[in-house]
Amino acid sequence: MNNKLISLIIVLAIVLSGLYWVFGLPMVGSPVIPVSADAIARGEYIYNAGGCAACHQLEEAEGPSGGYKIEVEEPFPNVYFTPNITPDEETGIGGWTGRDFILAMKHGRSPGGGFYWPSFPYRTYTNMTDEDVLDLAAYLMTQPAIRSEIPDHELPAWQFDFLMAGWNILADYMEGEPPAVADDPQIQRGAYLARALGHCGECHTPRNELGMMVLSEEFAGSDIVSTPINQEGLSGWTRFDFVGLLELGMTASFDFVGGEMADVVEHTSQLSPEDREAYAAFFISDDAGGGDDFNFD
Ligand code: HEC
Ligand code: HEC
Repeated sequence: MNNKLISLIIVLAIVLSGLYWVFGLPMVGSPVIPVSADAIARGEYIYNAGGCAACHQLEEAEGPSGGYKIEVEEPFPNVYFTPNITPDEETGIGGWTGRDFILAMKHGRSPGGGFYWPSFPYRTYTNMTDEDVLDLAAYLMTQPAIRSEIPDHELPAWQFDFLMAGWNILADYMEGEPPAVADDPQIQRGAYLARALGHCGECHTPRNELGMMVLSEEFAGSDIVSTPINQEGLSGWTRFDFVGLLELGMTASFDFVGGEMADVVEHTSQLSPEDREAYAAFFISDDAGGGDDFNFD
C-alpha cells in the first residue's frame, strides 16, 4: 500500500469514530426492569422525588399522560409539549425496556437514537443511579395506560434534534463542577435528592448563553428565580426553616412560595421526614439551630 492510501484510511477511521462518538448510543447494556412490589413502591417514591408529575401530569389528568406546555425564551423562543409517559402502546411509552429508560433518563436519547431537548431535565437525572431509574420504570410500566396524543413541539425549522449531540458534548466541558459535598451520609443524601432527583438547579442555577447550567455557580440564582439559594443566599435560614419550606411552602420570612415553586412543594411535602431533613442538611451546612429534630407531621 502506498502512503497516500494509508493516510486516507487513517483519516476515514478518525472521521468515522468521531461520527460514532457523536451519534452512537452510549453502551448501557440490557438492564431488566424489576417486577417486585418493593421495586414498584420504591419507583413510586422516586417518581415523586423526581417531580415528574409537575411536567407530565396535567391537573385534570388521571396519570402522567403529558401535554403540559413548556415555553422557553432563551436561548431561542421554543414551545415544548411533554410526552405521555403512561404505558400506552401507541401514544405513550408502552413496550419500553430498561435500556430505553436508562438511555432517556440518563443520556437524553430516545429509543430510536434521537436526541431529547433539555426541556426534559435529563442532564440532572443523569446523576440518578441505574437502580433508581429501573425502579422508576417498574412503577411507570405498571400504571394504567392512558391514550393521549401530544402535539408536536413548536421549534424553528433549523433546530434539528441532532444539534443536541454537539450541545451535550460542549455542556460536558462547559458546565463545570458543582461545589464538593461533605462526607456525611445525610448531606450526601440531600445532595442526591437536590442534584439527581428534585432538579432544584434546573430553575435556581444560572445558565450560560447556550442554556447550559453553570454548575460552579450552583443555586446562585437564574432568569427564573433571581434570589440565590446557595449557602450565602440562605445564610439567614436554619435547617428547621428549610424543612418548613419543603413541607409547607413557607420561607424563613414567613412568605408562602408561589408559582412553579408551589408545584415543587407538592412533591417535597410527600417525601419522608428524613429526606426533607437531608435536603435541609445539604442546603444549610451552617445551622444556627432552631429545632432541627422537629417535624411538622
Ligand atoms: C421540567 C419538565 C420535566 C420534568 C420535571 C420531567 N420531564 Fe420528562 N420530559 C419533559 C419533556 C419536555 C420531554 C420531551 C423532550 C423531547 O421531546 O425532546 C420529556 C420526555 C420524557 C421521556 C421520553 C418519553 C418519550 O415518549 O420519548 C420520559 C420517559 C420522561 N420524560 C420521563 C420523565 C420522568 C420519569 C420524570 C421524573 C423523574 C420526568 N420525565 C421529569 C419534561 C420534563
Ligand atoms: C420549576 C422551577 C423550580 C424548581 C425545579 C425549584 N424551584 Fe425553588 N423556586 C422557584 C421559584 C419560581 C421561586 C420563587 C417563588 C416565589 O417567590 O413565590 C422559588 C423559590 C425557592 C426558595 C425561596 C427563596 C427565598 O428566599 O424566597 C427556596 C429556598 C427554593 N426555591 C428551594 C428549592 C429547592 C430546594 C428545590 C428543589 C427541591 C427547588 N427550589 C426547585 C422555582 C423552582
